[in-house]
Amino acid sequence: MKLLKASRVGIGANDVTRILILCERKRAKPHIQCHHGNMTDWEASYQQGETPWDRGEAAPALAEIVEKFPTLFKGRILVPGCGLGHDARWLAAQGCEVVGLDIAPTALKKARELDPTHRVEFTQTDLFDLPKILLGSFDIVWEHTCLSAMPPELRPRYAAAYKSALKPGGTIVGVFYLNPDMDPGETGPPFAISGKN
Ligand SMILES: C[S@@+](CC[C@H](N)C(=O)[O-])C[C@H]1O[C@@H](n2cnc3c(N)ncnc32)[C@H](O)[C@@H]1O
Repeated sequence: MKLLKASRVGIGANDVTRILILCERKRAKPHIQCHHGNMTDWEASYQQGETPWDRGEAAPALAEIVEKFPTLFKGRILVPGCGLGHDARWLAAQGCEVVGLDIAPTALKKARELDPTHRVEFTQTDLFDLPKILLGSFDIVWEHTCLSAMPPELRPRYAAAYKSALKPGGTIVGVFYLNPDMDPGETGPPFAISGKN
């Protein structure tokens, strides 16, 4: 895991948002592509148990980030594309108020089952159609393989959604797979990100 960039960037007219970009070039296990045409059928993937991105535990990057930035994760955190919610539960265990958001009902059902004490608020919501109650209410957006799962044409809407969810001055922290080096036969995330985009 390599901290690629920690910067303060303006993504709106009046606010400044800090983005920590973490780059993981290799995955622990191959990432099978299971998208149909240009769009992944996420619900079908969860129903069929075709979830190669799921580690069965929180992303190791979280603990590494806390080691480097011990006070970073605090306040209210949004985890878009939370899947089975491992990261969301990990962040809640650190004392954060966490909302895990996903469009796939089967993923959320499992996420709730794995969180019997209801520390995380899981919501079936489209990132591109955030309800008013979630707007401008988060200190941090944490994401793991959400952007790299989206077709490039959705990236402007993705950026707008994160901006709208954050409080002014909020922080986006995420693991993005930048030009992952692949072994022969290994596949990467559906829409890996190059240094240029
Ligand atoms: C590659 S998976 C990553 C899941 C989880 N972050 C992880 O690392 O295990 C991408 C996730 O994004 C969700 N997703 C895709 N498009 C979404 C959207 N428009 N709104 C909310 N969630 C979305 C999918 O259902 C899926 O759970």
